[in-house]
Amino acid sequence: NTKYDYLVVGAGLFGAVFAHEAALRGKRVKVIEKRNHIAGNIYTKTVDGIQVHQYGAHIFHTSDKAIWDYVNQFAEFNRFTNSPMANYNGQLYNLPFNMNTFNELWGVQTPAEAKAKIQSQIEAAHLNGQPKNLEEQAISLIGTDIYQKLIKGYTEKQWGQAATALPAFIIRRLPVRYTFDNNYFNDTYQGIPIGGYTQIVEKLLDHVEIDVETGVDFFADRDAYLANYPKVIFTGMIDQYFNYQLGELAYRSLRFETETVNTGNYQGNAVVNYTDAETPYTRIIEHKHFEFGNGDPEKSVITREYPADWHRGDEPYYPVNNQQNNALYKQYAALAKAEGQVIFGGRLGQYRYYDMHQVIHAALVTVQAELGDLPQ
Ligand code: FDA
Repeated sequence: NTKYDYLVVGAGLFGAVFAHEAALRGKRVKVIEKRNHIAGNIYTKTVDGIQVHQYGAHIFHTSDKAIWDYVNQFAEFNRFTNSPMANYNGQLYNLPFNMNTFNELWGVQTPAEAKAKIQSQIEAAHLNGQPKNLEEQAISLIGTDIYQKLIKGYTEKQWGQAATALPAFIIRRLPVRYTFDNNYFNDTYQGIPIGGYTQIVEKLLDHVEIDVETGVDFFADRDAYLANYPKVIFTGMIDQYFNYQLGELAYRSLRFETETVNTGNYQGNAVVNYTDAETPYTRIIEHKHFEFGNGDPEKSVITREYPADWHRGDEPYYPVNNQQNNALYKQYAALAKAEGQVIFGGRLGQYRYYDMHQVIHAALVTVQAELGDLPQ
């Protein structure tokens, strides 16, 4: 279609930021989205007066003031601080690992006592040389107790593999804090958009130069799209775009089970991780606590999150960035480079675990390279 300058495939955050910025630069943009709604994985919808995070808990956090200011143009943010709890066989612990956790585990009261306890456990494990797998890596960083109670079961459920079979690099660093501080993120800015995330993407796409069509898969009409649009921004799976010709990239998937419960406050926190091996889900999200308990005082909406293997056709939530997949991605990226008409962006297009602030940054970098500054 000659009247458009760009076709954006995917109405997630990357596609929406690109479309918005291109429109501001006078370009006409068509956005197609295969789901029946916009916003990709940051989609939220109102259920019983509560903003439900449809694709898992989303907490916006960044230390980049420019990105924080950018996203605040499209929503007002509250002062939410992510302080997840861990439930290990019915025992509750604070996360991330901090003085509260150490006190709950061992009764220690000072940072020196906590450090000594962790150090003695690391030494007692008698690990020799470089850690050979995730288990050894975790123990060498934090000792056996925290590994056994708060890392092992959760990680094995997440990846569907024994910790001794997982590579050490998955845990390079662990968030450990010797203060009584349950704030999960270290970033300067953190919050949840009041009224949900979907409005951000709605506002990004609300421009006379942008047309949006949902429920449309690029691959249903790929040749026609490529023939009719001078330039394509593709935010779907890069291996699928190339028809898996070099092989499949691996992903992890998730299954979400959401229900409304007849209690105003189900678990007293937005996020509770289940770190034992027996509980089949990894976490329960109670959505109203992202907004300080707003919503029906008699009801709450909770979501259980189950990790799942990924097979073609499933939702690809997490790229599995091990050496093999990253090497394969590099080969696809080389094909992508040669494909001058198409720019690959976002979590699936660049096969990278991007957080929201990183996706916005990446989209703005792409806009800058493609179209330069905003006209004055
Ligand atoms: P996204 O996947 O959102 O968008 C791509 C869109 O393209 C999708 O809507 C898809 O349907 C569409 N599409 C794909 N193929 C297509 C085709 N062939 N035709 C048409 N459309 C197609 N980040 C953070 O900062 N804080 C957090 O707390 C979390 N939490 C979190 C939890 C979970 C469970 C996940 C999976 C992810 C997070 N994230 C996060 C990451 C966050 O979700 C992510 O940064 C953005 O949603 C990525 O935006 P993209 O536009 O790259 O992809």
